[in-house]
Order: sequence, then C-alpha cells, then structure tokens
Amino acid sequence: MSFDRSIKIAPSILAADFANFGAECAAVEAEGADWVHVDVMDGHFVPNITFGPATCAAIRPHIKGVMDVHLMIAPVDPFIEDFAKAGADIITAHVEAGPHIHRTLQAIRGAGAKAGVALNPATPANAIAHLLDMVDLVCVMTVNPGFGGQKFIHSQVAKVAALRQMIGDRPIHIEIDGGVDPTTAPLVAGAGADVLVAGSAVFRGGSVDNPAPYGANIRAIRAAAAG
Ligand code: DX5
Ligand code: ZN
Repeated sequence: MSFDRSIKIAPSILAADFANFGAECAAVEAEGADWVHVDVMDGHFVPNITFGPATCAAIRPHIKGVMDVHLMIAPVDPFIEDFAKAGADIITAHVEAGPHIHRTLQAIRGAGAKAGVALNPATPANAIAHLLDMVDLVCVMTVNPGFGGQKFIHSQVAKVAALRQMIGDRPIHIEIDGGVDPTTAPLVAGAGADVLVAGSAVFRGGSVDNPAPYGANIRAIRAAAAG
C-alpha cells in the first residue's frame, strides 16, 4: 500500500477554549480535521506552559482519529511512557531538546507510538540526516515555538523542499507548524509538506456552540494547499 501523502489538516488546540478541550476536539473533527495537534509546553524548552499527559489522557476519548502530540519539553525521555499511555498516536520531540535524540526516538517507538522529530527555525534540515530511518514524521517549525498566532517565517519553505528531497520514498510525513493559513499553505504544500498544523487560522471566529467557522476555515486551508 502506498504511503498517504495527501494533505492533512491538524488543528492545534492551543487556539481552542482550554475549559472545553474535549468538545473542541470533537467539534473540529466533525468539521473535517484529519488529525488533532496537541502542544505540550514546559516553560523551560519554550517560554510558555500548557499541559501534560493527564490532559492528553482526558481528551483522548474525544478524538476519534489521530492524536498528534508535539512535545516542546526538555528533557523528553522521562515522560515518553506517560504520553504513550495517554493515547498519543504520534509523539514528536525536538532535535534541540537534548543530546540524545536517537535514544529518544527509539524510546518513542519502543513505547508503541509513531515517532516524530521537530526542527526549530534555526536548525538545518541535515540535522536529522541520520535519523530518517527512525522517524514517521518530521515537523518543520515555521515560527519560533511557544505561542500561537505568530507570523510565518518564509525562509523555512526552502528547508521543507530540502527535507522532501532527503526523504525520497520513505514513509515519512512532513508536518508544518506555525502561521499556517490559506496564504501560506500553498507555499509549504508546494514544497512537499503533507500535514498542516493550524491553530488560530482554524479556531478563528467559531466556538463549540458555533463550529461552522471551523469547517469553513479547514476547507479554505485545504483548498489553498491543493493550489
Ligand atoms: C507553537 C505550536 C503551534 C501553534 C500553531 O509553538 O507548536 O502548534 O499552536 O498556532 P498558529 O497556527 O496559530 O500559528
Ligand atoms: Zn505544535
């Protein structure tokens, strides 16, 4: 079976109503989301704090599809088992989070989850050249991690194209995270990305009681990415 490189939209619940995560996850899935992106921040690796494995476990029953957990924490290894037990389908660690990313990726797959590696804007594509057989996803940060609603960093589009080249036919997703909207989606899709994370551009204008704007926003990003 060929690897699914079709465009997938992964709303980031960082832009959702924190008091209503379960219903927000169900709402964006009902409105067309392919995956749900969950941003874990520890106030150390990034200058912001969100939530941990307990919150992931609490929202898991509300997500029918893929729970895509983005760990912006350091260290990572002591928490992998907890996020896997919480039901994360994909666990992504930053290559900058510590000196032993190879061991971290082994531990993620060892815990039964798919392994992702994320690159901050300053980190070159070849930082993961020796990890390609250990990952199921590469996440290119198109903002400096820590907050939603930031401006897209255009210089990262060339890095996406370089990664697409490096990956070749391997079954590895290229995920884009930060500042994705209908104007930036075609740039990264054109460069070879297939997973588009979007927080503010999906949750803008809607709510759990009025989720229709979520659907319209998702469709607009998907249509723009299709070009
Ligand atoms: C930032 C997070 C992103 C963020 C995206 O550190 O990793 O997932 O929530 O939000 P937008 O789409 O608003 O830039
Ligand atoms: Zn993220």
